[in-house]
Order: sequence, then C-alpha cells, then structure tokens
Amino acid sequence: KMNNYIRNLMAKMTLDEKIGQLNLPSIGFDVTGPILSKGVEEKIQKGQVGGVFNTYTPNAVRKLQELALTKTRLKIPLLFGYDVIHGHRTIFPIPLGLSATWDMPLIQKTARAAAVEATADGLNWVFSPMVDIARDPRWGRVSEGAGEDTWLGMQIARAMVTGYQGSDLRRQDAVLACVKHFALYGASEAGRDYNVVDMSERRMMETYLPPYKAAIDAGAATVMSSFNEINGVPAAANRWLLTDLLRKQWGFNGMVATDYTAVMELVNHGVGDSAEVARKSLYAGNDMDMVSELFLTTLKQSVTEKKLDVAVIDLACRRVLEAKYRLGLFDDPYRNISTARAEKELMNTEKLALAKEAALKSIVLLKNDSSALPLKAGRKIAFVGPMVKDQRNLIGNWSGAGDWKKAVSLWSALQAQYPENKFTYAKGCNLLDDEALISKLNPHGAEIALDAKSPSDLIKEAVDHAKDADVVVAFLGEPFGMSGEAASRSDIGLPLNQQNLLKALRSTGKPVILVLMNGRPLILQWEHDNMAAIVETWYAGTRAGDAIADVLFGKYNPSGKLTMTFPRNVGQIPIYYSAKNTGRPMSNEKYTSKYLDVLNTPLYPFGHGLSYSKFTYGDIVLNKIAIKANDKLQATINVRNNGEWAGEETVQLYIRDMTGSVTRPLKELKGFQKVMLKPGESRDVTFTLSAADLKFYDINMKYTTEPGDYKLFIGGSSADVKETEFKLM
Ligand code: IFM
Repeated sequence: KMNNYIRNLMAKMTLDEKIGQLNLPSIGFDVTGPILSKGVEEKIQKGQVGGVFNTYTPNAVRKLQELALTKTRLKIPLLFGYDVIHGHRTIFPIPLGLSATWDMPLIQKTARAAAVEATADGLNWVFSPMVDIARDPRWGRVSEGAGEDTWLGMQIARAMVTGYQGSDLRRQDAVLACVKHFALYGASEAGRDYNVVDMSERRMMETYLPPYKAAIDAGAATVMSSFNEINGVPAAANRWLLTDLLRKQWGFNGMVATDYTAVMELVNHGVGDSAEVARKSLYAGNDMDMVSELFLTTLKQSVTEKKLDVAVIDLACRRVLEAKYRLGLFDDPYRNISTARAEKELMNTEKLALAKEAALKSIVLLKNDSSALPLKAGRKIAFVGPMVKDQRNLIGNWSGAGDWKKAVSLWSALQAQYPENKFTYAKGCNLLDDEALISKLNPHGAEIALDAKSPSDLIKEAVDHAKDADVVVAFLGEPFGMSGEAASRSDIGLPLNQQNLLKALRSTGKPVILVLMNGRPLILQWEHDNMAAIVETWYAGTRAGDAIADVLFGKYNPSGKLTMTFPRNVGQIPIYYSAKNTGRPMSNEKYTSKYLDVLNTPLYPFGHGLSYSKFTYGDIVLNKIAIKANDKLQATINVRNNGEWAGEETVQLYIRDMTGSVTRPLKELKGFQKVMLKPGESRDVTFTLSAADLKFYDINMKYTTEPGDYKLFIGGSSADVKETEFKLM
C-alpha cells in the first residue's frame, strides 16, 4: 500500500519538489552550528522543505504545517524534529545518568513519556537515542550516551527506540526515533568534537557498532550520520557506512539525515567543492541535508550536468516520503495537536513522578566512609556551593524545551521536607571564576553571574558556616555548558575555584560530603582521599532536588551504578573495564604494562555504586562445568543484604574467554539483574547463558564461538566479583 501511494505521489513530483523533500532546515531556537537557516517559511511555501527542526508547540507547528498543506502544489506534510534527548518538557536525568539506573523498563518509560510530550507539542521525530560508545571522558558528549559498554549500550538502545516509537508509528503519540551519530562518533580522537576516527574493523564490529545495530533491529525508523571521519572518509560521505553496511548488510530501510551542516563541512574535510560534496553525501546514503542546503542549491545542476543520476535523488525522496507515510502524516498531518492535549500531557503529575523515580535511581554513591551518609535531619548541616540553590543546571544540556524554572533545587526540596531544620547555606564560590572559560561556554556562559563578593570572601563565609556545623555538604560540579556538544575538556577535574573551596572546607576538620553535578566522569582523586562521602547526581532533571534530598537523608537508598569508568588522572584515558591482558600484564616487575606514576586501575570502575546497605555474595554455582553448543549454562549466586537498610543491588555477570584465535577482553558484561532486598534478606540470583552469548569475531571476522576455557564472574561491580570457570566444548 505504501509503495503504491508513494509511487503515485512521486510520479506527480517535479525534480525541484523531490529535492525540496531532502531539505531539513532549523527554524526556531537552539543553534548548534555555524549558520542559521534563513527564509524557512518562504521555502516551505515553495515546496523546498521536507521537514524542519527546532519548532514546537501546537500553534507554531500547526502554522508551518498549514503552509505546507495549503500553499504547496502537492500538499506534502512536513516532518517536525527536535533534540528530545532526555525528556521533552519534563526533563529526566541526562542519558549517562539514566544509564546508571541499569533499569531498562524505566528507561523505556522515560522515552515513552518524552514521546507523549513531544507529540502533544507538535513533534513527530526525535533526534535520539544517541548510542555512541564513549570511552574518553574528555569528550563532552559522553553525557548524551549510555557509557562505555557495548552490551549494556545495546539494551539501552532497544529500550529507548521501543519507548519512542511504541509498536505503531501511526499512533498520535509515537515519534520517529533517530539513532545517532552513525557511526563511531564516541571514538573521536583525543575526545575532541567533530574529530577524526581511525579504527580497526574488528573494534568497530565488536565494540562500537552493535548498539546502532540493536537500535535498528528494534525498528528505529531514522538514522543521523555523524560529523567524524572514519578511516579517511567522513561519515557524511561514506557509502560503505551508509549504504553497504547500514542498508545492505543490516537491512535498514528507513531514512538517514545528516547532522547539522555536515554536508557543507565536507568541504572543510577536503573531499570536494560544494556541488561535489552534496553529490557524494547523497550518493553515500544520506536522504536529508540538515541546515547546509547544499542539496537544495546544487543537486539539480549536478543532474543537468549529468554528474548525478536522478535515480539517486528519487531514492532519497522516496525514503523521506516513506518516513512520513509510516507516521500516518498523509492521512493525519496534524496528529491531533491542540493546546488542550498539550495542557493535559505536558509536565503532568504522572510524568513528574517518573522524573523523580528516574532521578533517584540514577544517583550513584561513589564513596561513603564510616556511614557519613545518610544525614540526620536534626543535625546542624552547612550546605555550601553554587549548586545548592541552583535550578538552571539541574536539567542539563539538550533540554531546550525544558523549563529550568520549574526544576526543583536541592535547597527548596530541603526547605519543603524539613521546615524545622538547622541547615545553613553559603554559596562558597562562583560556578566558575575563569572568565575566558566562561566566555567559551556562551551562550550558556552568559548565564553564569559572578558574585559581588570576592572569591576569598565567599570561601571565608562558607568556612565560617562549616565551623559552626556538625557536617558540611558541598554541592559542586560542572555548569551544564561544560558538557554536551562542543564541550570537550583536557582537564576534567572540578573547576579550580571549586577545588579551592573544598580544600578550605576540608581544613576545618569537619566531615565534608561532596555532592556532584556533572556530565562526565571527573578526576576526583583528591576528593576521594579527603571527602567523607561522594555522591554523583549527574544533571538529574526536573525533580533533581527532591531526589538528591531523599538520597542524602536516606529516604531513598542509592542504587545507581556507573556505566563509565572514572579514571585516577587524565593520563589514564582511554580507560575502560573491558581492556585486554597484553603480553606483560601489570605487576611489580619493571618491564610490564603500566605507568610509573599511577596505577592501571581506575578510581571508580565500571559498574561501581555503593548502597547504604552492604550486599554480600556467596560462591557461584554452575549447573554444568562444560557446555555444548546447544546447552544452557546456569550460574547461580546468593546475594544477601547484610546492612540495615532495604536496598536494590544490580548483580552483574561478566565472562572472560581465556584463549581464542584473537585476543579477548579481560571481562565482558553479559548480563545483570536488579534485586531488591530487605535487611537480612538473601536471594539466589540465576543467570542463563547460551553459546550465542559467547560469540565474537574470530580471526576471519566470522561471528562465531570457539571451544575453550572461560571464566565467569558475578558481583556488584566490574572490579568486585566472585569467579568460577567453565568450558565450551
Ligand atoms: O541532533 C543534534 C546532533 O546531536 C548534534 N548536532 C545538532 C543536531 C540537531 O540539533
């Protein structure tokens, strides 16, 4: 039916109208590139636009859709895209935070809620999920993804696509998901945005590509090609990537859009002039040109000059129309958008409750010495730091439609929950003092106001509060513009002025609890050595303050687990748990693989996250010690809550393939289960593995298993496990 409809429609289209469908300008807010689209309404009326992004609200969308439906010859409806990354109006924790929940049903629910809000606000396409595996915390965009692990990344990719799209794209509350950034963007050299990626085929297939594939297998309807080059060929002009791999090998039959001005940027990459890069990009397999308008301005001429076959344009146009058809836009272009629906859906009670649940579960307790946490409400507590009363940062980056004024600050949550409290507040320092850095964060830098008091006066005031208190809670971190796009850092510690504050607080001798808000793993060695407890809250979203207060005072027992390794220093990067053994594994011997000045191990490993309870693990019991290709291996472990708090533990299973035709990682995550245990309660947790879980790309790049010895590990983090062995026959 779709084929017929689109064939008939395309038969009526002129070449100009077809090219118009490939144009994706930005109209509205949020400029994330060097240029801004111009004259978009006029172009819509001329049939020169296939979709727009950055426009939302029922009225704004209706107005543009009406232009397309009433002023153009063929009345083809527009797509409306937007960066709905971790919620639309109700903002959930940033994706890195959401991934720390290890809770797939919850992650799926947040994507569903985002889709419901986005569609009520007129959108039909979200530029999410970002599934780039990321192992370099200097890269600001690690905040937008699910961390370093392939297997976990695959589960999260599926959950998000399913949440956004539901089972029927024609439903008025479903959106097209857009898997990005295809591909390998997370491996951008030196953690610098828009940079080069040079990677072996093996590493691509094994580590970086599977989450994109998982999202596509889950039905993702669209893909965004990435800014980076791959082995000398920019992704936006890479036919091997966008056609041979994506479409022919993986069977993707949806639509591909470029990233912001990526076609134009191919000129800078050095692969042709404007007309040539537009041809290359289209031929490679991109269907829509985001913002650069080179498809619009050059493709027709290329056809006239016989440099481009019109069939390539037809193919891209067909894919754009198919995306619209799949959404049901030809039957129902407005998809029931109305202010009444928006009022009912946006930031309603149910979504705000979900935002709190997600925030609670995303918080990771990194350190807790001598039960410094939870706090007791009756004590004198000095809350210090520019984040304590802050609302702006709580919703993090890529939260354009989120209203930070509705975000709950920690201070307001505390006042609401503990009206009789003896808490004091001192700002202690500015978010940042470094004016050069602040200006680089613009436009967000402009929102960082320097206090009228001098930095030393701010510190002095905080120290006075600290001296008078039983315990100090310092809430510090990165202003949100320090992570996300174009926010790479070479030094990923807390800003210097914040470190100075912490040192002064520490010198009072009072226990200091550090609460962090940031979008990447930070270097926290000094903080680890000097703070009584450290709580990682990421940018936890609209309900951040409520959730942080609940964790600090023990109304919620923290359960988040890291999905990205926290290094000890920047020199250890890249550092990730699934490293290889090398021929000379680290030891005290001189000629082994190590540093002279730092351990090989991270400060906080992948999977780490403490609880107010203490979970202890028994020994692993296997149903067999050797399995054949069709057997199931069952691994059971007893997990006990030996603490005084009910709590949830994420029990993680890893394997190591001891020998192979190619080398294998020291550990690979292959499963996890979340268990809720009351104090004193214990439970047997059973995992089932089959030979398929042991597959990898062998010496001939065949995805297969090889018989041999394996180790199997189960524990509460990648570095704290029980272990046993089995054989694959
Ligand atoms: O979706 C984003 C992408 O992740 C980075 N560049 C801009 C796009 C649209 O805003």
